[in-house]
Amino acid sequence: MKLWGGRFNKDTNELMKRFNNSFYVDKRLYKQDIRGSIAHVKMLGRVNILRKDEVDKIINGLEEIMMEIEDGRLKLEGDFEDIHSFVESKLLERIGDVAKKLHTSRSRNDQVAVDMKMFVKDEISAVISKIDVLIECLKKKGKENEYLMPGFTHLQPAQVITFRYHLMAYVEMLKRDKKRLLNALSLLDESPLGSCALAGTTNDIDRDFTSNELGFRCPTKNYLDSVSDRDYLIEILSAFSIIMMHLSRLSEEIIIWCTPQFRFVTLSDEYSTGSSLMPQKKNPDSLELIRGKTGRVYGSLINILTILKALPLAYNKDMQEDKECFFDSLDTVNICIEVMIGVVETMKVNKEEMLKSIDKGYINATEVTDYLVKKGVPFRDAHEIVGRIVLYCEEKGRAIEKLDLDELKSFSEKIEEDLYEYIDYSNILKKGNKKYILMEVE
Ligand code: ARG
Repeated sequence: MKLWGGRFNKDTNELMKRFNNSFYVDKRLYKQDIRGSIAHVKMLGRVNILRKDEVDKIINGLEEIMMEIEDGRLKLEGDFEDIHSFVESKLLERIGDVAKKLHTSRSRNDQVAVDMKMFVKDEISAVISKIDVLIECLKKKGKENEYLMPGFTHLQPAQVITFRYHLMAYVEMLKRDKKRLLNALSLLDESPLGSCALAGTTNDIDRDFTSNELGFRCPTKNYLDSVSDRDYLIEILSAFSIIMMHLSRLSEEIIIWCTPQFRFVTLSDEYSTGSSLMPQKKNPDSLELIRGKTGRVYGSLINILTILKALPLAYNKDMQEDKECFFDSLDTVNICIEVMIGVVETMKVNKEEMLKSIDKGYINATEVTDYLVKKGVPFRDAHEIVGRIVLYCEEKGRAIEKLDLDELKSFSEKIEEDLYEYIDYSNILKKGNKKYILMEVE
């Protein structure tokens, strides 16, 4: 069944049909499409465009189609242009000619717009719940493993922190990711249904009713904008891209941490794979895939941005291309968050290895400068003095705290016995504003 045969003499070319059809992608919108149609028909009844018996027939038919799809009796397959023509033609098969009244005062332009917004609303709350699980999982892992660890800048040992504090940095990122998604959801929460093709309708329909029925805050204001707007997909994809960027940074860190050179963590066998040639290998493929799949999501964002660039108002078929990459990104983000939860939950944190690594790299040097400043040495001078101490330590192959007091005093008379206590790694985090590193901050 075609939704637009009247003004055509010739059939669509087979290649053009394959090129044009979007059913294989947008069948994923069947639930939203049927829900949208039910609300639309209810409204048509309320404003007396359809009779009550017609409304009941159509709604029963639509509900039956929904049930049959859900329980597998009705397969989402066949030669259909899109999900909208699939549902309408199945309705016609079931209830006869009255089905032809369903599309009164509606266009596929406002229909697909409302379907897609409903789909995004339905799916994003699930993504947010997954982010919440990952947040809890990082917090728990951190709490169970509150060990001292070197913090890095330039991937060079910098200052002492804790493993928990490092994970808590990702908790902050994920909290912002949630807010970005919630903000996008709030902006998109206006119903385009009833905008019709681009200019509304001469029939007296009730857009407040359908908006309310479908759970939107209010109807959209401008019909042209309503059918042309895909900002919300761009916003969600940009939030997705940032989520993936965060997951990919965490992936990269864990990949580094589980090398034999670091050994800060041991990945579970469950989330690792082996080599077909080298028997000793255990590779962090789970994390490499998260890192790699980040590219797909960035790609989708650029894809939609480019589709919409310079696109004149109102609807253009270019916009049909929004769905495939959006669905792909949604699935990618979902599985990547889930895999990250699994990886973090099952990885073992190696306290001893982290402690050993603290001794490499003079990561209490900055605290020696703090000490000297406390003793009245100007910071720049203190920096210079400690730089020389580090050079000396490097030559001797010893840590700063392993030098004896006479050696230390040769660099500055201000250094006394109490320096050792001051720069002891287990004391450093109890001082100054570093105390917050050990605190539970929400
Ligand atoms: N499959 C189309 C899409 O996803 C539905 C809207 C079609 N509208 C039209 N005027 N051909 O964009």
